[in-house]
Amino acid sequence: MTTSPRIDLDRLLRRLDTFNQIGALPGGGNCRLALTDEDRAGRDLLVRWMRDLGLIVTIDAIGNIVGVRGGREDLPPVMFGSHIDTVGTGGRYDGLYGVLAGLEACAALNDAGRATRRPLALVAFTNEEGSRFPPYAMGSLVYVGGLSLDDAYAVRGIDGATVGEELRRIGYVGEASPGFLSPHAYLELHIEQGPVLESEGLVIGAVEGITGLSWTEVSITGRSAHAGTTPMHLRRDAACAAGEIALFVRRLAQSMGGHQKGTVGRIELYPNLVNVIAERALLTVDLRNPDESLLQEAERQLAGFLDRLAAEEQVAITTRSLARFAPVAFATEMVSLIETTARELGLACRRLPSGAGHDAQMMARLCPATMIFVPSVDGLSHNVREYTSPRIVARMSVSEIRDCHFPHFASLMRATQATEAAQRQPPPPFT
Ligand code: GLV
Ligand code: MN
Ligand code: MN
Repeated sequence: MTTSPRIDLDRLLRRLDTFNQIGALPGGGNCRLALTDEDRAGRDLLVRWMRDLGLIVTIDAIGNIVGVRGGREDLPPVMFGSHIDTVGTGGRYDGLYGVLAGLEACAALNDAGRATRRPLALVAFTNEEGSRFPPYAMGSLVYVGGLSLDDAYAVRGIDGATVGEELRRIGYVGEASPGFLSPHAYLELHIEQGPVLESEGLVIGAVEGITGLSWTEVSITGRSAHAGTTPMHLRRDAACAAGEIALFVRRLAQSMGGHQKGTVGRIELYPNLVNVIAERALLTVDLRNPDESLLQEAERQLAGFLDRLAAEEQVAITTRSLARFAPVAFATEMVSLIETTARELGLACRRLPSGAGHDAQMMARLCPATMIFVPSVDGLSHNVREYTSPRIVARMSVSEIRDCHFPHFASLMRATQATEAAQRQPPPPFT
């Protein structure tokens, strides 16, 4: 006998807590950088949970984990999920929230004895964050054929290891070819990671598209010399040049205005000693704009500035692209579907673009895709204090989960609702 599927809040909350014990940081938040031992422990747990629910688990050659819940074999599946890796100082929800809410949706369907017409494919993509190995969204990019397996395996991370070595070491080079399932549609539930929904008192964002993004690694070579004896006008100081670049990037974004963003998030100096003028500096520039022509303009201005700086500071500057993605617009019927479903459920919703990159932007090359955002307290993410408040009190009676035949994603929307309510924990204190 079948009943109405119900999301089990306690089960979902327990899973979030249990999972987040992996890579937990002392003051709160998590570190599960891609392909580390912590990432492996998270993968092992997810695979176990998927199998416990009867999902057929497949690992592909880039380590993406896909758990399929059966439906009609002649129909392509509806795919949904996100990622379980984090940045080095990550929060409890970025990525994991979407994967565990998807797991709970499968569990609720199982409990109710419900079959769906289309198979459901829950996915956790490899290395979404890109903090250790650029580019971000590597697993989904390989899945859609945007990066070859060999090129992905050869990527060297910030600690010197390569993707191929680390994937083998943790035992997640699967046999399936990336792209082995061609989905009917892809849906990703995620925290907003920005302040818009919270500031407008809304609970659901229907994501229209993803910003364009350009990551560049800049290497500066100057000359080491004695900090006490070298006259200021005779220095070739790589640290000073790095500082100039950081300030330029901020001024560039401010002067362009609009949605232009600019960040220098990483600077390393050599030899990094108090009384030695820096010989070398390595830094990264992250430029983003939802308008491709404006993003190109920002890249041009940065390149011009680096040429002038090299001449003025008597240093050599070289650059290497780490990631470059044009803006992506999601399929309008998918975005409308989120809005309509939110309305049906009485959840205040608006359309908005994403300034963060996501696996959905890669999956949009393969099938209609979009994302559901829920609010982030203070707009914080990539921060251990990342938090999503329980502003929706769950109305848990799921009277009707419609067949998961596109365009009906009500079960996932209800999983969103449930997870919101499940996030009762206050943000961790600063340490
Ligand atoms: C991915 O997390 C990004 O940097 O937007
Ligand atoms: Mn994410
Ligand atoms: Mn992230």
